[in-house]
Amino acid sequence: MSASIPGPNVFDFADVTKRFGGHTVIRDVTFAVPDLPGKGEFVAILGPSGCGKSTVLRLIAALRPHYPATEGTVLVLGKPVDCPGSDRSMVFQDYTSFDNRTVEDNVAFGLECRGVPVRERRERAREWIAKVGLDVKRDAVKYPSELSGGMRQRVAIARTLILSPRIILMDEPFGALDPTTRLHMQALLVDLWKEAQATVFFVTHSIDEAIYLGDRVYVFSSAPGTIIREMKVPPPDRPPKEMLREPGFVERVCEIRDIMDNLAASTRAGD
Ligand SMILES: Nc1ncnc2c1ncn2[C@@H]1O[C@H](COP(=O)(O)OP(=O)(O)O)[C@@H](O)[C@H]1O
Ligand SMILES: [Mg+2]
Repeated sequence: MSASIPGPNVFDFADVTKRFGGHTVIRDVTFAVPDLPGKGEFVAILGPSGCGKSTVLRLIAALRPHYPATEGTVLVLGKPVDCPGSDRSMVFQDYTSFDNRTVEDNVAFGLECRGVPVRERRERAREWIAKVGLDVKRDAVKYPSELSGGMRQRVAIARTLILSPRIILMDEPFGALDPTTRLHMQALLVDLWKEAQATVFFVTHSIDEAIYLGDRVYVFSSAPGTIIREMKVPPPDRPPKEMLREPGFVERVCEIRDIMDNLAASTRAGD
């Protein structure tokens, strides 16, 4: 077996600050995520609402008005990003499927944009519909309005992963789901991610979710957000229901909760 040579870092943020007018939304954000040959990393960004998590993700995606940064440099795969690209796919919290397309046509959309012939894209769309746990016969012909929230996010995941992106950017994708569905979706994402070998950048304000999914967790301060803690955590190799109960897991949750509570208390005290 030949040793693979690591490429440039997947993400490199150096002293990144973003201001909207006089309002600073993130400050001096610095981190580097290496390229692990043959395996992507799962990076979780955890922080209170409004601390600038989506801003960081949108800087990677090169989406305005968050992009470009006011100060500092953002490199993705060793290069400054300058436009949204198909190497970086996004999944948002809001259901972003096209209302006037069936599940199958939503999942096949990216392939259609790439000019993949209709038979082939239908076939691959059906494969992906099954992979995300939907029923091809029953669900492929449905429209988004006929689906539950969990099912819509399954469609969003299929639509993204069918394109084999190098980088997957997820902004609180399970934030609107009920707790049971959320655990199922976390387990599904882990299964698919292992196969996809993509680097995932996952934004959440759920401590459990960040620790379960992440290989590493960056904890952000309250606004203006900056990284106050980096934690390497064991990979999700068992279902969330099991891992959530383990003493090591509970300890990590408590540690991060303490950090975040202290932060909230010092913000209230006006420090
Ligand atoms: N387009 C914008 N113009 C001005 N301020 C913005 C804009 N987008 C976000 N903000 C502000 O930036 C801060 C961080 O936002 P965001 O990155 O969405 O936080 P999070 O995702 O952590 O909840 C918030 O105070 C928000 O009001
Ligand atoms: Mg956000």
